[in-house]
Amino acid sequence: MSITFSLFFLSLTTLFTSLSCIGLSKPLPSPELPSPYISPIKFFRNYEAMLNKFKIFIYKPNAAFAYESPSESLFYTSLPSSPFATEDGEQAHLYFVPFPSDLRINSLSRVVREIRRAFPYWNRTLGADHVFISCRGSTTAGDRNVLELTKNAIQISCFPAPAGKFIPHKDVSLPAVSTFGVDTPLEPKNASARFLAYLRPDQSAGANESALVNQLTGDPDFLIDSGAPFDKATYEERLSSSKFCLFEYGAGASRIGEALLFGCVPAGIIDRPVQALPFMDVLTWQEIAVFVGAGGGVEELRTALSQAAAGDRYERMRRLGVAASKHFVWHKTPEPYDCFNTLMYQLWLRRFAIRYVIRDDLSLD
Ligand SMILES: *[C@@H]1O[C@H](CO)[C@@H](O)[C@H](O)[C@H]1NC(C)=O
Ligand SMILES: *[C@@H]1O[C@H](CO)[C@@H](O)[C@H](O)[C@H]1NC(C)=O
Ligand SMILES: *[C@@H]1O[C@H](CO)[C@@H](O)[C@H](O)[C@H]1NC(C)=O
Repeated sequence: MSITFSLFFLSLTTLFTSLSCIGLSKPLPSPELPSPYISPIKFFRNYEAMLNKFKIFIYKPNAAFAYESPSESLFYTSLPSSPFATEDGEQAHLYFVPFPSDLRINSLSRVVREIRRAFPYWNRTLGADHVFISCRGSTTAGDRNVLELTKNAIQISCFPAPAGKFIPHKDVSLPAVSTFGVDTPLEPKNASARFLAYLRPDQSAGANESALVNQLTGDPDFLIDSGAPFDKATYEERLSSSKFCLFEYGAGASRIGEALLFGCVPAGIIDRPVQALPFMDVLTWQEIAVFVGAGGGVEELRTALSQAAAGDRYERMRRLGVAASKHFVWHKTPEPYDCFNTLMYQLWLRRFAIRYVIRDDLSLD
C-alpha cells in the first residue's frame, strides 16, 4: 500500500519537475539557493524524525578525560546536554563509547570488555549499534574486543581521515571547527573573483605539496599563502576573492567548511576515489566541489579549473556550496542543521546495525 503511494508521489514530482523544465511559456526563475542535498525530501523528513525519536546512550568513562581536537571535544560536550541523550539504554538506538584518543590497545580492549560484561547492549549486536570518536583512526589490530569495536561500531573520524582508517558506509566524517570559531554564512559574492584558485599550504604536508606550491608561486592565476601567520580579515578576503580553494588531501583539507562559507568552491587534488568527505549521505559533493588528479601538474590543474570556472555551472556550484556551509558551522550550543546536528543525522541514518561475523579463532580474554 505504502509502496504504491510513494511511487505515485514520485511520479507526480517527476511530472512537476519536467513541467518546469519544459517551461510552458517562459522559463521559471531559478530558486535563490538551489538545493545541495542528494534528496531534499528524504533529508528534511528524516531530520524531523531524528529530532523526534533519536536516542543515544552514553557510557561513563572510568576517569574524566579530554579529547585532542576542538571538533571532538565540542561533539562530546554537546552530546550529553542534547535532546538525543538518554539514560535508558533500552530505548536507545545507539550507544556512545567515550575513550581518549591516545588510549593504548590493551586499555581499549579493557574498556570494551567492561562494557560487554556490565551491560547487555554490546552482546546483542557485537558492537554494531555502538559509536566512538577517533581522529587518529582506529586500528584493527588487537584482540576480539578491539576488532569488534573497529569493524562493527560506527567510527566518527575527523575529516580528513588518515588513509586506510575509514570504512565507507559505516564510518562518518567529523568536520573541523573553523580556525576562527563561529561564523555565519555570507551572501555569495559576485563571481568576479580575481584569482582562479587559492592555496594555503598545509604545514604538515609532505614533499608533493611543496612541489605544487613551488610551481604555482608567482603564477598570477593562483594566490598562494606564504604559510606565515595571518589574520581573519586577510584570510576571508583571500577566500572570497578566489574562484576555487585548493586542497591537497591532507590536514589542510579540514578548511573545506571555511571555503564553502565564503563562496570559494573547494577543489580537491586527489588521485583516489573520495570516500571520506563529511556528510556524504546528505550533500551532492560532485556538484559542490571539483576533484582534480595530482598527476597532470600545473597545466592540467589550470585547464580543469578554467573549464569548471566557465559558464553557469560554476555559479551553481558556488551557491550550492554556500547553501551547504551551514552544516559545517559549530556552535557552543548546537543550532538546527549545524555541524553537530548534521553529524547526529548521519548517525541516525546508521542506526540499523549490521553485524560483523564472529570469528571463533579469536580469543576473548
Ligand atoms: C557477553 O558475552 C560474553 C561472552 O561472549 C560474556 O562473557 C558476557 O558476560 C556477556 N555479557 C552479558 C552482559 O551477558
Ligand atoms: C552581480 O553581477 C550582476 C551582473 O553580472 C549584477 O546584475 C549584480 O547586480 C551584481 N551583484 C552584486 C551584489 O554586485
Ligand atoms: C608524490 O607524487 C607522485 C606522483 O605524482 C607519487 O607517485 C607519490 O606517491 C607522491 N608522494 C606522496 C608522499 O604522496
